[in-house]
Amino acid sequence: MSTQDELKHKVALAALDYFDDYDMVVGIGTGSTVNCLIDVLPQVKNRIEACVSSSEETTKRLKEKGFVVKELNQTGPLSLYIDGADECDTHNRLIKGGGGALTREKIIAAASDKFICIVDESKMVNILGCFPLPVEVIPMAQSHVGRALAKLGGQPELRQGFTTDNGNIIIDVHNLKIIDPLKLEGEINNIAGVVCNGIFAHQKSYATLVASSKGIKTQKI
Ligand code: A5P
Repeated sequence: MSTQDELKHKVALAALDYFDDYDMVVGIGTGSTVNCLIDVLPQVKNRIEACVSSSEETTKRLKEKGFVVKELNQTGPLSLYIDGADECDTHNRLIKGGGGALTREKIIAAASDKFICIVDESKMVNILGCFPLPVEVIPMAQSHVGRALAKLGGQPELRQGFTTDNGNIIIDVHNLKIIDPLKLEGEINNIAGVVCNGIFAHQKSYATLVASSKGIKTQKI
């Protein structure tokens, strides 16, 4: 039996296969699984020209390993983006944002040719929504957005003492059963004051690498 940390390390190693070119400019996500990736990323350093990072934390870790970190506005489209997720369904639709970096993550996913998601098997679900859905919100809209999210059937809860890298708050929405992720992603984005929500259905992954004690499975749709 492997521990969850061992599985995160294994799936991070498996992601290195996608660094299959030279002079690559790659997007790097945020979270404990991505931290495992950053630990092994020096193995493919000769293939990476620069990284675009989804959070201040990831930027710091990449720079510590000697990688060049650029702004997305400097680089243009990216060939590859690698990131974790909080939940993944059988269609590679995701919930992300447990670490609060969902907006930059969604921007990078949208700007990348290939989004490879790396998870351990505990993240796989049939229906998204057990994990509370993170929603990044402009602070003055907190109560308005909270009421609108409650009308959609969820129980909104302010993430206490947390400010995003963009200076906003996060509302975590509990008890949503997300039957139609594409539709709900759009509906939540249409609430005035919402910057971004953690459903990645429009920006689902191209492939999800899932680590279990049996090995790595690649889920491609
Ligand atoms: C960060 O905001 C998130 O989207 C992460 O990708 C997600 O929370 C997964 O993190 P772990 O790898 O720590 O589970």
